[in-house]
Amino acid sequence: MNYDIHNIELAGEGKRRIEWAEGDMPVLRQVKERFEKEKPLQGKKMSACLHVTAETANLARTLKAGGADLVLCASNPLSTQDDVAASLVKDFNIPVYAIFGEDNKIYYKHIHAAIAHGPVVTMDDGADLVSNIHSDYPEIAKNVIGSMEETTTGVIRLRAMANDGALKFPVIAVNDATTKNLFDNRYGTGQSTVDGIIRATDILLAGKNVVVAGYGWCGKGFAMRCHGMGANVIVTEVDPIRALEAAMDGFRVMTMIEAAKIGDLFCTLTGDIHVIRGEHVKLMKDGAIVANSGHFNVEINIDEIKDLAVGEPVEVRHLVDQYTLPNGNRIRLLADGRLINLAAAEGHPASVMDMSFATQALATEWVVQNAGKLEVKVHNVPTAIEDWVSRLKLSSMKIEIDELTEEQKEYLASWEMGT
Ligand code: ADE
Repeated sequence: MNYDIHNIELAGEGKRRIEWAEGDMPVLRQVKERFEKEKPLQGKKMSACLHVTAETANLARTLKAGGADLVLCASNPLSTQDDVAASLVKDFNIPVYAIFGEDNKIYYKHIHAAIAHGPVVTMDDGADLVSNIHSDYPEIAKNVIGSMEETTTGVIRLRAMANDGALKFPVIAVNDATTKNLFDNRYGTGQSTVDGIIRATDILLAGKNVVVAGYGWCGKGFAMRCHGMGANVIVTEVDPIRALEAAMDGFRVMTMIEAAKIGDLFCTLTGDIHVIRGEHVKLMKDGAIVANSGHFNVEINIDEIKDLAVGEPVEVRHLVDQYTLPNGNRIRLLADGRLINLAAAEGHPASVMDMSFATQALATEWVVQNAGKLEVKVHNVPTAIEDWVSRLKLSSMKIEIDELTEEQKEYLASWEMGT
């Protein structure tokens, strides 16, 4: 078996982490049990480009249990858990191409290795796999029956491809499923971003001015958790509805140029480019901390920070680079602007990835069942899958809900009944 990982000797610790995460993934476990019996993905060559974490390992095991011939590569150079990668290879016979801290050259080499597997189904987190197949491998693109996309940034890229008429196979926007974004983006990013920032810096959030750039589900989750820990949350937005929502949720809303002057901690969660730029950094206070929790390291214009700074940055703590401005103010950039929740912490907890990855596995089954029948476009996850995942999650949490009575069903279906 070919693979490229940091050190196979780390497998023991990786296996313990994978099993620990599995304990908190009851919905995915049920999918795996059924897949083991029914083998809905039997013999399908599959390449997945995901953050190589303990949670992803459980998704990989589920796909393999369903009969998929799977290889896995990293979707970010700084999110791989090397011990998990080792265990996937050693204990679960799944080829992995991922090394924590790999440079861009190795990162793309790993993506190409996953493509060389000749997939008919792909799964992506950020759309790097799909976009590379589209640009460089037309023969492979012809054979792909469908692809699943995990994240907001990836869905934005895929929709742009579809709008340009460039998309060559159907893709499923798993990110847009409510069983994914309402929970993973909000509670997952909310908690893991706080976790990453605290692990990297050990700062106290209480009393700090925390500037949250972007008030989508990720920004909402992060703002909510910072508020809960006593921070004064300031939101910056470009969308008027979201800005209003933030204001009515009780947060101060202002432009980044204003927020720059008062923020102690800045975090971007927008999916867009250069949200924090030199013009903002110039105004920041001494000791300001700048981080990103969006998928790509483009949300902070690091080149402009480098141009502004005097001399080289100093790594004052692991994953904390300090830049000194001409006025003497020190700006601390975390994890080189890479997604802080996976670079400095362990990403979202298993309990929330349970829903995202159960949705991923079931969407994969749906794509295989509908091979050749799906239109080439960005599809939503079928509502039946979302219903099943949410009901099972509730039942795993021992929560029961009411059912509509016959009278209520009739009322909801009628338009004549008034006062
Ligand atoms: N994205 C965010 N958190 C993650 C995790 N724990 N595993 C895989 N992908 C993730």
